[in-house]
Amino acid sequence: MRHLIDISDLSVTEIDELIDVANDIIDNPEKYQEKCKHKKIATLFFEPSTRTRLSFEAAMLELGGSVLGFSEAASSSAAKGESISDTVRVVSFYADIIAMRHFKEGAPMVASMKSDVPIINAGDGGHNHPTQTLTDLLTIKREKGGLDNLTIGLCGDLKFGRTVHSLISAMTRYKNIKFVLISPSELRLPDYIKNDVLEKNNVPYSEYTSIEEAMPELDILYMTRVQKERFFNEADYERLKDSCILNSEKMKFAKEDMIVLHPLPRVNEITTDVDDDKRACYFKQAKNGKYIRMALILKLLEVE
Ligand code: NCD
Repeated sequence: MRHLIDISDLSVTEIDELIDVANDIIDNPEKYQEKCKHKKIATLFFEPSTRTRLSFEAAMLELGGSVLGFSEAASSSAAKGESISDTVRVVSFYADIIAMRHFKEGAPMVASMKSDVPIINAGDGGHNHPTQTLTDLLTIKREKGGLDNLTIGLCGDLKFGRTVHSLISAMTRYKNIKFVLISPSELRLPDYIKNDVLEKNNVPYSEYTSIEEAMPELDILYMTRVQKERFFNEADYERLKDSCILNSEKMKFAKEDMIVLHPLPRVNEITTDVDDDKRACYFKQAKNGKYIRMALILKLLEVE
């Protein structure tokens, strides 16, 4: 039985296969509509979500399966003090696969040790978010034609932003990748990722505090929200929340074929005037999330 806790649980070949299946689902949805008949996914969300939870549920419904679960800790027995291990042990009697989001780093990993069914990490604290990364990779492949030879700007909250942590880990496995890290100094990428992922794999990176300077060299600009819920005090959040904002003026410095990605939700970091720019791909990215999750469910349930 396989789980998806960290993006490195999948080989590059497996990621490429998932992308191919997702593309086939986009082109031939009717082929897949009964693949998960009588299968159930449980979505256990201890933290807020719109896209991730609903795209997992839509994915299973479009495969002909059903969904059960909860969307906040308060409506589960966690509110009574039940441990993650006990919750998962029990839910794995009721569902064939579980997608779990939790505010504690490592919670889905703990769950995978007690579960009788595959566990998918749907975001664990400020740590990882592997299925967002699969969504990002599908979008990059569709929009840029491949995953090699790219200069990727990562902008915003690189400290707490779990989507960038998983994306870096995935992209370092492709050829000729360069990262440009853009953030205020307080929200820089954690040293453990710089040392253990970037430097260890000899992946070049540079650091900036403003978007304009970095913009001209980028093939991809990946914007992120300042992660309010991970701050220890409101004053720090207020001071840092608007430190990196992308608007149509700044888009003038970008390459004609650069793409803008954002895992969403956005707060202030991309002004709505960017939405009409043909390089803005964040809504397409959200749409792609459902297809790659369909491919992932098929893989983890070992459906042909
Ligand atoms: C992200 C997350 O939950 O980490 N959202 C998502 O899953 N698309 C990004 C965020 O909340 O900022």
